[in-house]
Formats: sequence, structure tokens, C-alpha cells
Amino acid sequence: MEKQKNIMEIDTVALDDENSAIVIIDQTKLPYETTLISLTTQEEIWNAIYLLQVRGAPAIGVTAAFGIYLAAKQIEKDESVHTYIEFIERWIKAKDYLNTSRPTAVNLSWALNRMQRICEQNAEKPLKQIVTLLHDEAVEIQEEDIRVCKAIGEYGLSLVKPGDGLLTHCNAGQLATSKYGTATAPMYLGHERGYHFRIFADETRPLLQGARLTAYELQSSGLDVTLICDNMSATVMRNGWVNAVFVGCDRVAANGDTANKIGTSVVATVAKRYNIPVYICAPTSTIDMSTPTGDQIHIEERPAHEITEMWYKERMAPEGVKVFNPAFDVTDHDLIAGIITEYGIARAPYIESLKAIFHQKTQENQ
Ligand code: MRU
Repeated sequence: MEKQKNIMEIDTVALDDENSAIVIIDQTKLPYETTLISLTTQEEIWNAIYLLQVRGAPAIGVTAAFGIYLAAKQIEKDESVHTYIEFIERWIKAKDYLNTSRPTAVNLSWALNRMQRICEQNAEKPLKQIVTLLHDEAVEIQEEDIRVCKAIGEYGLSLVKPGDGLLTHCNAGQLATSKYGTATAPMYLGHERGYHFRIFADETRPLLQGARLTAYELQSSGLDVTLICDNMSATVMRNGWVNAVFVGCDRVAANGDTANKIGTSVVATVAKRYNIPVYICAPTSTIDMSTPTGDQIHIEERPAHEITEMWYKERMAPEGVKVFNPAFDVTDHDLIAGIITEYGIARAPYIESLKAIFHQKTQENQ
């Protein structure tokens, strides 16, 4: 009998090209059930993103890239499609549809736009070849994600010392990316190098990504992780148990304002009170220089039952009560000690330092 794989050995998102499918770990079932699901239709891919079966900004981007490649493959096979114009019209419809699955993580549109550029730059080529190029680009987006997370891990690790207490919110771990995670990358690299961090994971209401995913993946990898409720972060900080906060992000605006899982701004506000630095771990794919400030970031609102009923044996709130359920909040840039990208650490003023990061990116990719 095949030995049950450790969760960390399973790809968060994998392309099964032979069966024209994307295989994901259904994250809504973790930690108690490790179920792999195979997504073949665009509707299944859309639903998997919307329902958070696959989640976390980079993993959403990778799923979208594979998804829109599969759409291209299917459109090209359709015998009624002969020309680039016929192909691209249908492809753009599929792209626009996938792009509506979740609004806040900019990696979704970033990955889809990157795939569109491949179509546009190769419009003269045979459709079959365009499909192959889309395949290669999607695979590159995934491989790049691994390199990016590793680089963020190295920069993050340079900010802390062995034995430090680190706090994180939500899951910006391997389950949210292709490997290492972003906020967890310094933790994993530190663990490999004997840093013995003490990690606090917020449970992250209402969908419990911290309890179900972060605590699970860190524990599975042998890290020292302690689960706390969201309202306990002030206590562990006041006790002097936290030296730094590392969190991920779904969209960073040009001025450094950062949208991340709801509750991040509370953590950052409390951390400021206790002089604890808050670092945003941000692949450049999550930095949106076309959004000037956090005020322009579209914050996703999710259904009421996620708060009133989900995870409970019976409903825990009165029927008919009004519910406000934003999935993300904006942490103001003045609460952020640094934005860790794969090109280095941006410091305030972010308007300048983020521009410099993109300048460096352009130069290094020339
Ligand atoms: O709603 P989710 O679970 O997709 O929210 C995820 C987060 O907020 C993560 O912190 C963010 O996407 C960064 S993942 C590296």
C-alpha cells in the first residue's frame, strides 16, 4: 500500500495536462481530510477559487494561469475555430469569467494578463503553437512562484534572529503558494538552519485559515507553533513573546497600504503599540502600482453564513441578524516596518521604494 504523503509533499496546485485538468488539495477539508480534486471545466475552476478550495494570492494566480491555458486548449480543438480572431474572442470571454472569481488578490488578474500578453505577442503564429506557449508561460508562473518565495524567505530571515517569537495571521504558507509560502518562508528557512523560532498563528476568523492551515502545515513540518485566537495577539505581544510579525498580502497599493486577510490591520495596530515590526511578505506579482492607495482596493465581502453557521454544530447567531463579512482589510502603510519582495526589502516612503523595486525588476529582466 502506498504510504500516505505528508501534506507538504503534495503540490498545492498541479497541472494534469494528460487529462486536461488542474489538481488541487481541497483546502476547505483540511486538516482532517486530504482530498485531491480534479478540476476540468471553467466553472469548476471558478468555483474552486470562489469557495476557497484553492486560496492565497499566489496559488490563485497559478490556478488561473493553468485554468486559462486549459481554456485555450479546448477552444483550439473546437473545429469551428480557425482564425486567431475567432480563438481570442472566446479566450477573452473565458479570461473575463475567471477574473470574476475573487476580487481582492491582484495575482488573479496579474496572471491572466500575463497569459493574454503571450496570445497578443504571438498572434501571427498557428493556434496550436499559441496553446503550447500558454502552457509554458503557466508553468513558468508556477516555477517563478517557488523562486520568489525562497528569495522572500532569505530577505525575511535577515530581519530576525535565532530564538525569536514570530506571529502570523491567516495562511500565507505553502498552501497559499507553490512552495515555502511567503510569510512562512523565513520560518521554514530558519527551521532548516536551526533558528528555533517560536511561532504564534492567529486562528483567523471566520474561515480559520490560521487554525486549519497554518498551524497544520507548520506543525507537520516540525516547527514550534502555538495557536491563538485572534483576540489574543495583544496578550502575547504584551508578554514580550513576539519579536516580529510576518504576514502575506493580496494587494499592495503604490503607497504601501496593504490588503490582507481581515484582522491583519488589528494585528498591525497592536504591534505598533508594542514596538514590534510588521513585515509584509509581498511577491511583486501582488504589488499593484496602478492602485494609488488602500482606499481604491476592492475588498471582497462574503456570505453571512460563514460567520453565523459555518464550523458550528448549530447556528450561533440569531436568525435574521445583520452581518458584515469583509474578507480582507487594509493595513495603513505607516503601520508597516517593511515590505519584503523577491528583489529586496522596501522601506518607507513606499511610494519611492516600491518604484525602485520595480525599476530593479525591469533592469534584471532585460
Ligand atoms: O481568503 P484567503 O484565504 O485567500 O486569504 C489569503 C490571505 O489573506 C493571504 O495572507 C494572502 O493571500 C497571501 S498568501 C501568500
